[in-house]
Amino acid sequence: MKQLFLKYQAQTSPHPLAIEISHANGSYIFDSKGKKYLDFIAGVSANTLGHNHPKVTLAIKNQVDKYSHVMVYGEFVQQPQVNLAKLIAKYLPSPLETTYLTNSGTEATEGALKLAKRYTGRSEIIAAKNAYHGNTQGAMSVCGAEQQNSAFRPLIPGIKFIKFNELTDISKITTATAAVILETIQGGAGFIVPEENYLAKVKQRCEEMGALLILDEIQSGIGRTGAFFGFEHYHVVPDIIVTGKGLGGGMPIGAFISSQKIMSCLKEHPKLGHITTFGGHPVIAAAATATLQELHNSNLIKETLHKELLFRKLLVHPLISEIRGKGLMLAIMVESSDLASKIILKCLEKGLLLFWLLFEGKAIRITPPLTISDKEIREGCAIIIDALNEI
Ligand SMILES: Cc1ncc(COP(=O)(O)O)c(C=O)c1O
Repeated sequence: MKQLFLKYQAQTSPHPLAIEISHANGSYIFDSKGKKYLDFIAGVSANTLGHNHPKVTLAIKNQVDKYSHVMVYGEFVQQPQVNLAKLIAKYLPSPLETTYLTNSGTEATEGALKLAKRYTGRSEIIAAKNAYHGNTQGAMSVCGAEQQNSAFRPLIPGIKFIKFNELTDISKITTATAAVILETIQGGAGFIVPEENYLAKVKQRCEEMGALLILDEIQSGIGRTGAFFGFEHYHVVPDIIVTGKGLGGGMPIGAFISSQKIMSCLKEHPKLGHITTFGGHPVIAAAATATLQELHNSNLIKETLHKELLFRKLLVHPLISEIRGKGLMLAIMVESSDLASKIILKCLEKGLLLFWLLFEGKAIRITPPLTISDKEIREGCAIIIDALNEI
């Protein structure tokens, strides 16, 4: 199977981990030889409730039996979409109550950028260095990683970059700016949390200049940081939210959310301002609704902060310089990217899945399912400490 994977499937890196998957359940993934891996990645922050959560699986099966794709997004009234959008609104302060469902995070970024340009009538976008917002060309234009972008230029013109957490850079937001787009917690850059009041100050400057603030919650949202959306920790309410990943409970999804007033400008002058065939697919929407209902009916979001403390208590070792991040969006920092790779690969041998971050080689990703138990956290951390001792 691995040979066929390498031959017939387009590859994204020269050395994929290429574990041959047999099945997955809860916090564990099993390969075709029967080896069991404890999953500290959760499909890169996507499997909010772990693998094959019975309520998500049941919602998918029930919906498949009723109907699957029936029409492009936005034409027919489909209960799974309505239920999901209503549930999302429940978690948000007014006036953020209108959701546009997409197939992926990067499409949600595209929609949010178009919406900001359309609403303000301006074209300049301000983004942060080392940001990651997706890989289609519009989203890539606001990713501040020149080593990636330079191979694909020209991208969208009129993008300016600021340094995340750098207050003096905020003055670059002017009356020419349509929107500032930031990850609430920078992911690919190394799980960098915003400093006290940084986001609130960005928002204040946006308001003064008539620009919109877009917060990308694709990774930090859906409970991962101990609040439904990460920005709730930082005394700020954005104008547009971009979400995805964990919203689908393991199914492909994205969404951008704003007020009725802002969102309504996509429907006229011109009409069909943003369209998609499969966005809001009823089976995916049913899975997402089941995920949010389970989060609502459990203590999983609250428990995330207790689980963070447990990780921080257990991951103490002379080779670990720092644990970055918030909730279950954590990164182990070590002295070099070589060392980070050694640790990741050694833990893999020992049956623990860890992963790299996009732009920070010295970081090791820990983003397990929110359903991970204390026992599983202890088991995984013991493997990491063993690996560090052997290295
Ligand atoms: C912060 C952030 N924005 C956008 C994206 C893109 O989402 P997708 O891969 O679903 O297109 C990601 C995915 O890693 C992300 O972490």
